[in-house]
Amino acid sequence: MKKVGILGGGQLGRMLLQEAANFPVDTWVMENDPHCPAAHLCQHFVLGDIRNYDDVYRFGKQLDALTIEIESVNIDALEQLEREGLTVIPRPSALRIIQDKTEQKLFYQQHQLPTAPFVIVQNRAAVNDLLSFLPAVMKIGKGGYDGKGVQVLESAADTGKAFDAPSVLEKKVDIDKELAILVAVDKTGQTAIYPPVEMVFDPYLNLLDYQIAPADIQQKVLWRAEAIALTLAKALQSPGLFAVELFLSRNGDVLVNETAPRVHNSGHHTIEAQVCSQYEMLWRILLDLPLGNTAALHPSCLVNLVGEAGYSGPAAYDGLSEVLKMDAVYVHLYGKAETRPARKMGHITVLGKDRVDLVYKANIIKRTLKVVSGTKENDPGNVKR
Ligand SMILES: Nc1ncnc2c1ncn2[C@@H]1O[C@H](COP(=O)(O)OP(=O)(O)OP(=O)(O)O)[C@@H](O)[C@H]1O
Ligand SMILES: [Mg+2]
Repeated sequence: MKKVGILGGGQLGRMLLQEAANFPVDTWVMENDPHCPAAHLCQHFVLGDIRNYDDVYRFGKQLDALTIEIESVNIDALEQLEREGLTVIPRPSALRIIQDKTEQKLFYQQHQLPTAPFVIVQNRAAVNDLLSFLPAVMKIGKGGYDGKGVQVLESAADTGKAFDAPSVLEKKVDIDKELAILVAVDKTGQTAIYPPVEMVFDPYLNLLDYQIAPADIQQKVLWRAEAIALTLAKALQSPGLFAVELFLSRNGDVLVNETAPRVHNSGHHTIEAQVCSQYEMLWRILLDLPLGNTAALHPSCLVNLVGEAGYSGPAAYDGLSEVLKMDAVYVHLYGKAETRPARKMGHITVLGKDRVDLVYKANIIKRTLKVVSGTKENDPGNVKR
């Protein structure tokens, strides 16, 4: 049986392992937290730092193949392991392009993939020379995730909010819709593409709010989005699963926002809504099995379950029973012991007959299910002694 390792033990690793149970594979996970969401679902858990060269190298040396569930891993170690014959998916060369947002944008430019106009800046001071470029969105080159390395600079008054590190300064796009497309690439270069999803964001949390699949877009927008996603995935020259985030602008342009070389939050719905889920697809690629069918079985809506504002501590799920009484609703809790405001704690997939039905159910779920903890912060009745 092949030994396959996953760097990172978060919820994406957890869902990948849930699917692994159906395949002939011996699963290994490395993460620095023995209670992480994936720790109890793998066959072998190794405590280690996925950003540390020695930890990643030692972990990889005992395996037949290695993949990731987060980009912030030690690429030098992966390159060395690949040179020594280990199958690393995605390839470290693709990961290197994606890990740094400045490299990623340059890659789109080199491959003539449409993306918002940008300049690369080295620090905050450089933004002051580019005031005519505003309004813009500044994205830190390395280390940003879940919107944390992203800052909107509307005008000169906002330059104090600029990152003081190498970053992309990108024109603010007048967005009509945000789309995402998953593309699977096997070791022979064959591809399979999933139908696009459409995201609706919460302007306050900057986290995925809810998502609908398939996206409601014109045929010509679909063709463009698919062509971009496929071209991009092939240009990365790596097997793997790639999530391509796109903007449809109000004037009808389709632009690449960013790419993730792994299973992605925009593909959670594929567990119930697709013939072959993104997780199953990645195992097929890792284990040299045929690519699966990406066709949708049902329209779906995905609601993120994040920690309620004002609550930190042991997680409790208010309204869970109510939601579980609903029809065609699938609750996924990530097994995180502690909640914090806006922490990703789970997601809910809803299957429905059409968009109106899905949005109606999604709103009931958002109102009903809350992740709280026993004590509310700043509660006058809860003074710490
Ligand atoms: N050029 C832009 N114009 C307008 N809005 C933008 C632009 N770039 C990013 N945004 C907004 O900011 C969000 C986060 O940006 P981006 O996806 O690049 O960051 P991220 O930190 O990787 O986020 P995540 O991990 O949630 O995908 C986008 O989904 C979009 O809503
Ligand atoms: Mg993004």
